Amino acid sequence: MRVCKALSALLLASAAQAKYIVPGGRWRDTEGNLVNAHAGSIWFDKESSKFWLFGEYKIEGQEEGGGVSVYSSDDLGTWESHGLALEPVEGHPYISTEHIIQRPKVVYSEEAGQYHMWWHADNSTYGWLLQGFATSDNIAGPYEFVDAVAPLGNWSQDFGLFTDYKDGRSYALYSNGDRAEGRDVYLTSFNSNITALDEVIYRFPKFDLEAPTIIQTDKSYWALMSHKTGYRPNNVVAFRADDLSGPWSQPFIVSPLNTRTFNSQSGFSIRIEGSKKTTYLYIGDQWDSNSLWESRYIWLPVDIDERKKTLEVQWHDVYDLNVKTGEWKGVKGTTYKGKSAKTSGNAYKQEANFGTDGVILTGIYGNDSTVTFENIEGTGKPQWISFYYQNTDDMGFGDQPGGTPDRIGGSWQLRRISSVVVNGDTQNVETLYQRDTHKGIILSTPLQLTLEKGKRNTITIGGLYNGWDYKGADIDRIVVYPPEK
Ligand code: GLA
Repeated sequence: MRVCKALSALLLASAAQAKYIVPGGRWRDTEGNLVNAHAGSIWFDKESSKFWLFGEYKIEGQEEGGGVSVYSSDDLGTWESHGLALEPVEGHPYISTEHIIQRPKVVYSEEAGQYHMWWHADNSTYGWLLQGFATSDNIAGPYEFVDAVAPLGNWSQDFGLFTDYKDGRSYALYSNGDRAEGRDVYLTSFNSNITALDEVIYRFPKFDLEAPTIIQTDKSYWALMSHKTGYRPNNVVAFRADDLSGPWSQPFIVSPLNTRTFNSQSGFSIRIEGSKKTTYLYIGDQWDSNSLWESRYIWLPVDIDERKKTLEVQWHDVYDLNVKTGEWKGVKGTTYKGKSAKTSGNAYKQEANFGTDGVILTGIYGNDSTVTFENIEGTGKPQWISFYYQNTDDMGFGDQPGGTPDRIGGSWQLRRISSVVVNGDTQNVETLYQRDTHKGIILSTPLQLTLEKGKRNTITIGGLYNGWDYKGADIDRIVVYPPEK
């Protein structure tokens, strides 16, 4: 009996092979490089039985026009790079490094027997507002440029693509720019071989939204979009409808107010129809406009209640997704509260009724004013640790389009950078990026760290230079997660 129990526990443990999904972490591909697929989209390819991620390739000094990168995965957590699916071509009229190549999507055209890629094609000043089209016989590419067109004569800025799982029909979603005559989001069907647009199915009028995606449940369509604040996060909204042609509901906010959708922008979503459960993931971007190539990804499960007609994007620091069964669960971690941490220099514990136990650690600055969490249990293996923080540098203007951070002419800092040192080893300083938040809003950012086995680890948090100053964000608590199996 006992042996049996132990054996089945072992089997269960080894069945969960998938990599954890850690929103906002530094995601590395199978070669150890940062996953470089911004404003990404995912296509599940039946032939290879893999998920394929396409996104904007961004490096320092080449933030736009870098082409479209491609990665494959079995579990949505482990990503293998296949280089560039669409390479920029010097001197090309639409896909040179001088152009905007944004929000790429790939879909398989049964009729053409080819993979079709569509994206937002533009000049560097967003003056053209076109849709680019390229094809390939192989999912990974190389994709060959076909054309860049004005959809049904209209403008097209942020581009989305949605395929109805019930009838296989594909649709384009696009915001039509910022001019007063624009400011709509269009939902337009593709022709059957997905080579051109057919017919406008619905127009979301004058909401001035962008980065659209549609989640399809058995009963409903849910269209998610962000407000227009450039590379800054805001509160993403959703609309619901029984039919794509509407009537669509009023928009509503999908995440806790003032979290700015956990500091992310919408852009894509995925439906995972597992053997036990259908799961929907929100696929968003945490843009870093100070260093766009370092932007992170915020992928989160979505909770939908058809009866109440509600949809919520749920935060989890770390979750374990099984793409075969469709099941997922938040991984449980151990919390270490700020109240029990040690402070040095000018760092101190300040009353904060929104903080854990009514306090938050503030005044963190450089090497001298730090906070140290003690007696942390580690395993000797890499573990994700979430740092819960507040950073109010933006003075509450963080979700204003192009707005200045404070009305008296301050500079936009966007994020603070904290130093994180394990067990006093100052030879290895980790950088923790802490995006600005509204006042009283506590969000978290994860780092993968290796602690020593046992309960005697310390983690010290200080401030690093973020281009303006050496301040670390206020810290509420840290949560240590078990290593991946
Ligand atoms: C928004 C859009 C992105 C990109 C930036 C440029 O975030 O959704 O695709 O165009 O603006 O500022």
